[in-house]
Amino acid sequence: MPTKESEQVIYLQHPSGSTAEVSLFGATVTSWVVENVERIFVSKKAKRDGTKAIRGGIPICFPIFGTKEKIDLPQHGFARNHYWEYTGIMKDDDDEVSVRFGLKDTQLPHETRKRWSHSFRLHYTVTLGEKTLKTFFSLKNEDEDTFEFNMLLHTYFLVPDITKVAVQGLTSCEYIDKVQNGINVTEENEKVTINGEVDRVYKKVQDKVLLEVNNDSTIQIEKFNLKDTVVWNPWIEKAKSMADFDDEEYKNMICVEVGSVAEWVVLAGGSTWTAGQTLTIV
Ligand code: BG6
Repeated sequence: MPTKESEQVIYLQHPSGSTAEVSLFGATVTSWVVENVERIFVSKKAKRDGTKAIRGGIPICFPIFGTKEKIDLPQHGFARNHYWEYTGIMKDDDDEVSVRFGLKDTQLPHETRKRWSHSFRLHYTVTLGEKTLKTFFSLKNEDEDTFEFNMLLHTYFLVPDITKVAVQGLTSCEYIDKVQNGINVTEENEKVTINGEVDRVYKKVQDKVLLEVNNDSTIQIEKFNLKDTVVWNPWIEKAKSMADFDDEEYKNMICVEVGSVAEWVVLAGGSTWTAGQTLTIV
């Protein structure tokens, strides 16, 4: 069987042996295994019972990224904090196995809808290939009026040693440095490496970025119809302050998150917007 559902988790299996798992809570991808190697980080302290967004995997940030003064929603919005509907298999052949999830405003509790009162329908498709994982949304504005939103795929990559990791493809981009009170900085390095807390929103980034996991493993992160790329590692002190993250786990993860977050995406009433990412082991 290419897919299986058990206890609100969907399991995908590709004929090559690659696998993926998606929790219905937040439609969060929680595992991606290629060549018997897990590529996605999930904290051993992550809550899996629906009481908190899963600390790891690929949480979806929607309709806001971070917090917004004008919108009274929790950090990174509500999409990662609610159960989605599993709408079934989209594709199953030798190339790819694909499943789809849905979230509509009417599935949200009244309290949440009061805080962001737009009508929308979100579809999220997760597609597993031999060496690829594609995660794509389509968002329909079911209001008559325009609404604005942010969307981001908060991907946590599992890495054996953070000091050997490099992100390529960000050179010359301007970024908001959240560690330095949000000042704007221009990236000068060809390879961005991590040796302290990093929390940066790189703006208007090229579509293909490479994550060198160590000397012999690289993941290409290709985004579609998304402008920005966030790079995050909490490092020592911030790691200690997170209840659902082990003190030492900052050594084994990096978030490289594609999204449109520096500016609002504006979607006219009745219109549909599509975007996503393809991760490829290269
Ligand atoms: C990153 C943000 O995307 O997510 C960070 O840039 C934030 O500022 C991090 O700390 C984790 O957020 P949360 O809400 O999952 O703890």
